[in-house]
Amino acid sequence: MNAPVIVQVRDLFKTYNEGDLALRVFDGLCLDIFEGEFFALIGASGSGKSTLLNLLSGIDKPDRGKIVIGGTNITALDDRQQTLYRRNHIGIVFQFFNLIPTLTVLENITLPKELGGSRYKAAEPRARLLLEQVSLADRADAFPDKLSGGEQQRVAIARALLHEPKLVFADEPTGNLDDDTGAQVLDILLRLTCHAGKTLVMATHSMEIVKYADRVCRIQDGQLQIDPS
Ligand SMILES: Nc1ncnc2c1ncn2[C@@H]1O[C@H](COP(=O)(O)OP(=O)(O)OP(=O)(O)O)[C@@H](O)[C@H]1O
Ligand SMILES: [Mg+2]
Repeated sequence: MNAPVIVQVRDLFKTYNEGDLALRVFDGLCLDIFEGEFFALIGASGSGKSTLLNLLSGIDKPDRGKIVIGGTNITALDDRQQTLYRRNHIGIVFQFFNLIPTLTVLENITLPKELGGSRYKAAEPRARLLLEQVSLADRADAFPDKLSGGEQQRVAIARALLHEPKLVFADEPTGNLDDDTGAQVLDILLRLTCHAGKTLVMATHSMEIVKYADRVCRIQDGQLQIDPS
């Protein structure tokens, strides 16, 4: 792959301590992810897929090691700087959508911008454009509990893309959807991310999804096995 590296991970260590028990998830992990690729993370439940995504997005902290994203060493940032970095540069899609039930679809999409200090009105045109792109233009004023799971995930995708991130992390985005709905959501997600020049890093259990990935990496016993391509 000749594209520039967008995510560089070096010597990453992560252990969770619960009482007397130390659970070593990563033990000196190294990884490069290239700009514009669809990078799929697979592995058994509990192997560390979500942990890796949380470390890459700065939601969780490694014990040791370095994560450089687009030239910024995010492991050297303090909590506030990490939050700002995430808000400005990374899009995240979760398995369970994580929409706020008391806000409308449009308000859910614009919320991250508002938290960043932008006015709702300033973010509204792009939010409406994204709603069109996920085929939900007519549901802008609905509340999440009136939407199907697939529709909620499409809203969550629009929310993740509002600030035009170059890098998108998705943690089993279709894991809570039936096969047909999952396929539709995947299609939209790919179209708006890696097919639009963004980098997509996705944790998944689906061997169907893996077929679309540029590279697949399996996490096993704290190690990464990357398919050559
Ligand atoms: N906050 C935490 N405290 C303690 N242990 C944790 C914590 N988060 C994750 N773990 C443990 O770390 C390991 C990796 O968990 P992780 O959630 O990354 O797995 P996963 O590959 O995403 O699994 P799944 O496919 O079920 O989502 C698991 O054994 C889990 O119990
Ligand atoms: Mg997980």
